[in-house]
Amino acid sequence: MKTFQVKGQQGSSSIHVGEHLSNTGTYLPVGVTPIIITDENIKALYGEKFPKGPVLTIGTGENIKTLATVEELLEKLIALSCDRGSFILGIGGGIVTDIVGFVASIFLRGVRFGFVSTSLLAQVDASVGGKNGVNLSAFKNMVGVFNQPEFVICDIDMLETLPKTEISNGLAEIVKHGLIYDAALLSFIEDNLQKALNLDQDTIFRLVADSVAIKSRVVQLDEREAGERRKLNFGHTIGHGIEKLDQEKLHQQKPGHTGHGRAVSLGMVAAAMFSKKKGMIAQTDVDRITTLLKSLNLPVELDYKADQIIETASRDKKKQGNNLYFVFLEALGTARVEKIRYAEMNEFIRSVFT
Ligand code: GLY
Repeated sequence: MKTFQVKGQQGSSSIHVGEHLSNTGTYLPVGVTPIIITDENIKALYGEKFPKGPVLTIGTGENIKTLATVEELLEKLIALSCDRGSFILGIGGGIVTDIVGFVASIFLRGVRFGFVSTSLLAQVDASVGGKNGVNLSAFKNMVGVFNQPEFVICDIDMLETLPKTEISNGLAEIVKHGLIYDAALLSFIEDNLQKALNLDQDTIFRLVADSVAIKSRVVQLDEREAGERRKLNFGHTIGHGIEKLDQEKLHQQKPGHTGHGRAVSLGMVAAAMFSKKKGMIAQTDVDRITTLLKSLNLPVELDYKADQIIETASRDKKKQGNNLYFVFLEALGTARVEKIRYAEMNEFIRSVFT
């Protein structure tokens, strides 16, 4: 097991990679019965191993990441007579941890909370770093707070029950970490593709631990995303636009072509091409990235309508007037954030999408 720390403005978080769901009790406050919030799938698969406590369930899928779900949970917490001494434990993937972190942060102006993170995507990204929130109408993660969970347990064994597409989705965020900070991590993935896809224990432990090491270091430097943390959005500006189109089924969808990681894969291909256009990296670097993503069963073909992406990408909450911060690659393993005009990004999108 490896443990990483993040000291946030309103509390600290310890992230335990390789710890197990069955040991969660060790991290809970003594004498407090946790209120557990999970989704229906996780409860069916692992409910018997949960620590003792009332269990509230939510549905699955990005569409339930809404204020309506938050309100429903808040009412259930009131019905359970929760008070400021309560502890809320979120057990699930990124949707569960995003919602639970937000609910715990606003209920009674904030109660203690922690996570058992069950998907690869949540373990390497969503559950780490203290961003909690929900979508609002067409806008992704538009309402939320920065607030660190007391602990995050990344139980590698729980990844075994994930569908293969979910493993690829998580690997997309691991590739992102390699591209923006760690060329050695990138080479390690390239050298261990099948082991990663087959969830070989040592390989996946290293991938999750290296990702959490990178993410916790960055969040420690810049919790509120005023500078360094922006680099974690590599591939996400265009990627979020694509994810929205997938969710709203606004384009010809191929079977299985949905999910955050898949959208980020396409967003990273586009951002790499944009970096090349700006003279920062070479075509051989772009090719290396697309080959790697393809080998991880992630999409790389930019077969989306440019005008639709321009519309959905403009809903980004990081937008500042006519400008946005776009994350480029200076080299494989090094990112650079530049404030550019929307018009420049849109012109680029028109040049590479259909
Ligand atoms: N997923 C990007 C961040 O946490 O900042």
